[in-house]
Amino acid sequence: MQRLKVGILGAGGVARHHGMGWRAHAERAELVAVADASPARFAAFDAAHAEGRARHYAGFEELIADPEVEAVDICLPHHLHAPAILAAAAAGKAILCEKPLCTSFADAAGIAAALEASGAPFVMAHNQLFQPSLIEARRLLSMGALGRVSLVRSVEASQQRGPSTGELPPGLAAGESPWAWRTNPAKMGGGELFDTGWHAVYRLLALADDRPVAVSATLGRFLHHGMAAEDTGSVTVRFEGGAIGEVLTSWAFGLPGDRQFEIAGELGSLAGSQTATLFQLHGWPEPQAWSNDRVHTFTAEIGRFLDVVQNGAANPAPFTQGARTLQVITAAYLAAERERTVAIPEDPLAAPA
Ligand SMILES: NC(=O)c1ccc[n+]([C@@H]2O[C@H](COP(=O)([O-])OP(=O)(O)OC[C@H]3O[C@@H](n4cnc5c(N)ncnc54)[C@H](O)[C@@H]3O)[C@@H](O)[C@H]2O)c1
Repeated sequence: MQRLKVGILGAGGVARHHGMGWRAHAERAELVAVADASPARFAAFDAAHAEGRARHYAGFEELIADPEVEAVDICLPHHLHAPAILAAAAAGKAILCEKPLCTSFADAAGIAAALEASGAPFVMAHNQLFQPSLIEARRLLSMGALGRVSLVRSVEASQQRGPSTGELPPGLAAGESPWAWRTNPAKMGGGELFDTGWHAVYRLLALADDRPVAVSATLGRFLHHGMAAEDTGSVTVRFEGGAIGEVLTSWAFGLPGDRQFEIAGELGSLAGSQTATLFQLHGWPEPQAWSNDRVHTFTAEIGRFLDVVQNGAANPAPFTQGARTLQVITAAYLAAERERTVAIPEDPLAAPA
């Protein structure tokens, strides 16, 4: 099999995890080009993940124009996702895109049209879908192990100092701090809910496996008073089948342990973390527990991206999953601002009203 020639757009914080993922799949893919505005970041990334052999581009547009590149991996600040997707789709490249899909509904509609015209594979980098506990929970739910589901709760909360200090994360070479653009709502697209909260929302949607119909939300700023937007979000989602969805996401605080979801239904309940799955039918004195080694979810997601591109495998996170996530988060911001429940249209590309 020919190795897929990949260009990575943005060599910052998350790109280091993607670099590990591409290296783990070196027999199927090769990093041939890296775009980053910072030459120091490019050099550090190239040495660590591309054996010092990648071509450097200062801007992502030039990398996309490189005819040798067959697939792009978008690891850019949020406001650059839409222009990068549009350019890559026009150039016919396969696309793996970090969350979020983009920062507005107008951009999402443009992306939908561009992807349809291109026909190139497009996969959202929804790495949390590859947690073993989530995979096991989805398997049990699909078998009806809980009966009718009443509640799905999804949590992404841990204290982050960066939004206040603006420091570079350890190991990240010189360049703009990732917190500089994150505390600018025009580049970020929102606050914490739009960033880390994105994971909690797509996880909620994956576990509920139902159409969200209404959203209410409360946002707060508890630690990062210099941020223009929220550092914490609490979102309630009503699903078409009646289940209640809850998202809790924060950079101000964490909760004990690292539990990422809890699900309750008529027959019992489930919970999951990065290293454990708990399953308890009502009446059991204690849950059955399975533990697992920590999985590098970025490596798993890149393996699946390669399966999609090279073997036509099912897409784990297509465009519509990104659009639905954007829709729920946009509805949450509207609901919090108006202090009202906001209806979610059936079409994931329709703006909530
Ligand atoms: N899946 C996850 O768990 C996870 C974790 C962190 C970040 N992310 C996502 O990854 C993306 C990047 O976040 P990050 O934390 O790595 O940010 P970052 O600021 O560390 O990295 C972004 C990089 O893009 C470069 N850049 C900016 N403008 C550019 C341009 N025009 N051309 C080329 N390079 C340019 C910057 O120099 C920087 O190195 C975001 O979408 C973020 O939400 C996902």
